[in-house]
Amino acid sequence: MKGTLVLTWFLMVCLSKVTVQSQYYSQSLPYDTKAVKVTHLHFFLHETLGGKNPTAVEVAQANISSLPFGTLYAIDDILKIGPEDKTEVIGNAQGLALMVGGNTTTGVMYVDFGFTTGKFNGSSISLFSRNPITETEREVAVVGGRGKFRMAKGFALLKTYFLNATTVIVDFNVTVIHY
Ligand SMILES: *[C@@H]1O[C@H](CO)[C@@H](O)[C@H](O)[C@H]1NC(C)=O
Ligand SMILES: *[C@@H]1O[C@H](CO)[C@@H](O)[C@H](O)[C@H]1NC(C)=O
Ligand SMILES: *[C@@H]1O[C@H](CO)[C@@H](O)[C@H](O)[C@H]1NC(C)=O
Ligand SMILES: *[C@@H]1O[C@H](CO)[C@@H](O)[C@H](O)[C@H]1NC(C)=O
Ligand SMILES: *[C@@H]1O[C@H](CO)[C@@H](O)[C@H](O)[C@H]1NC(C)=O
Repeated sequence: MKGTLVLTWFLMVCLSKVTVQSQYYSQSLPYDTKAVKVTHLHFFLHETLGGKNPTAVEVAQANISSLPFGTLYAIDDILKIGPEDKTEVIGNAQGLALMVGGNTTTGVMYVDFGFTTGKFNGSSISLFSRNPITETEREVAVVGGRGKFRMAKGFALLKTYFLNATTVIVDFNVTVIHY
């Protein structure tokens, strides 16, 4: 009997906790524009296709004649401070790249650029944008971020620095506003 009472009491406590947690919550405050910063980042993306350690691999392809339209790549590219292979690694770019376009092949990128050193270690920016890869200079959109880059919004200016069948090196010049 005593056990039942204890159990009932325990269940009631649990239930009341659930009730409190499931309460609808809403609070609006003025947007603190003074907390917003602008950050410029400059680095090089290094991509390797094929070989022993590829950083971009084809994961799906449409069964059509107008390829490369409908080709999807998984990417885990390396970010370095310079275009040379031996320069310091500062992060990685993980996500998907989709080939689209009719007569001109172009790409759409869905990629998270994460930093592994310096004051942005552990933080990342999200890039989602069309990426007209056949143009040497192009602009892509920064749509969000994590960590130090919370609420990020901005753009990146891209320049193809080097390109052959197995190696792609792209100059990234990013401007983001964030908290
Ligand atoms: C690819 O498409 C062709 C023509 O429509 C078809 O004959 C073939 O079976 C398809 N292959 C696969 C793997 O679906
Ligand atoms: C592709 O090129 C052909 C021939 O030049 C043209 O007729 C067609 O409209 C083009 N398609 C697109 C999507 O630009
Ligand atoms: C970056 O952060 C990770 C995880 O907190 C830590 O293990 C690592 O030592 C840091 N690297 C640098 C270079 O600060
Ligand atoms: C592409 O360039 C890289 C770096 O210079 C070189 O190691 C690689 O062999 C080249 N690949 C081809 C297919 O020429
Ligand atoms: C990067 O972009 C900013 C803003 O568009 C520009 O002022 C700066 O000169 C660019 N830097 C490089 C190295 O391209």
